Amino acid sequence: MDRHSQDVERVFAVATDPAGLNKTLFQVTHGLYILTAAWGGRLNGQCLDALMQVTSAPPRIAIAVNKRSLTHEMIAASGRFGVNVLDREDPACAEKIRHFGFQSGRTVEKFKDIPYLLGEGGVPVLPDAVAFYECAVVPGMTLDLETHSLFVALVERGGTKERGEPLTYNEYRRSMRKRTGS
Ligand SMILES: Cc1cc2nc3c(=O)[nH]c(=O)nc-3n(C[C@H](O)[C@H](O)[C@H](O)COP(=O)(O)O)c2cc1C
Repeated sequence: MDRHSQDVERVFAVATDPAGLNKTLFQVTHGLYILTAAWGGRLNGQCLDALMQVTSAPPRIAIAVNKRSLTHEMIAASGRFGVNVLDREDPACAEKIRHFGFQSGRTVEKFKDIPYLLGEGGVPVLPDAVAFYECAVVPGMTLDLETHSLFVALVERGGTKERGEPLTYNEYRRSMRKRTGS
């Protein structure tokens, strides 16, 4: 190890193993969302943190979705999805994360007892969200990441509110994770 990398180790807790690297990545600030989809007469949704805006003209985002999730199957089939930005002031936030993020629509009907609105493309929109986006997957811009697909999508419609504050993934990890039972 050269002198410079030793200097870094004095200042930071450094990791190179996969688990340690993932822990360091918790410091990358991003949000926590409920990703929704509609297909074959069904509605479903899951938690998602792997989202970023990739271009502004046209407005496009990229999301990484595990291929095993039902939501992935529905997005791949329909070419559409909705994104709901969770509100950190919503008292039911932890419950929403548990509901959408720790069980699969393959075994439970997630929208059975959840209030929702329908977007233009038929995707569910959560009325308690700070904001929502309705998106169309851009043909030819889906990347196979082995476990996940990276969908690049055009944001066709979005809505925001005056009130509310987006929940960050970091805040979820720090203060909400225990309440979801994970
Ligand atoms: C905090 C949190 C963040 C998550 N982020 C992602 C993500 O970015 N991508 C993903 O594919 N799954 C993510 N998940 C996992 C899915 O939400 C989870 O596998 C879900 O049960 C899939 O549901 P489905 O089969 O009904 O689609 C996350 C879960 C939690 C609790």
